[in-house]
Amino acid sequence: MTNDTKPLVAVIMGSKSDWETMRQTSETLDRFDVPHECRVLSAHRTPTETAEYAAQAEARGVEVIIAAAGGSAHLAGVVAAHTLVPVLGVPIESQSLKGLDSLLAMVQMPGGIPVGTLAIGKPGAVNAALLAVAILANSRPELREKLRKFRQTQAKKVLAEKLP
Ligand code: RP5
Repeated sequence: MTNDTKPLVAVIMGSKSDWETMRQTSETLDRFDVPHECRVLSAHRTPTETAEYAAQAEARGVEVIIAAAGGSAHLAGVVAAHTLVPVLGVPIESQSLKGLDSLLAMVQMPGGIPVGTLAIGKPGAVNAALLAVAILANSRPELREKLRKFRQTQAKKVLAEKLP
């Protein structure tokens, strides 16, 4: 739901090349009808714009920021440094080191500025959205209900699995 509705979640990524992974975040947020916006912002290629975006997020009504980056993945940490809005990080699977570089760069934030880091790649992209929904659901009973139903459907699917 990247439309005119005021976004509750901001999904940012260091490069357009991250979109193939991060579309999973957007699609998952769509399943819960969570208004969000997606855009490319780089900590090293657009440092000023990234800092400004992070600093303005709270005043714009954004309640969770999801930041994805690959390689020397400092985007989430830089964004977290400029806002009090919770920041969730998705390490992108890099070609050279399969995302281990992204994961370690993102997860090893020194104490003081937290980034809630998810798994590498698509599972992390999906879970970042689900975690954002859970955070928003703390003050939105209807969203909590949707999350409960999502879990129930997921559990039923697992229990109905037939093995060869
Ligand atoms: C990071 O560098 C991006 O998040 C991306 O994962 C990685 C490679 O970017 P491109 O060279 O594909 O633009 O900043």
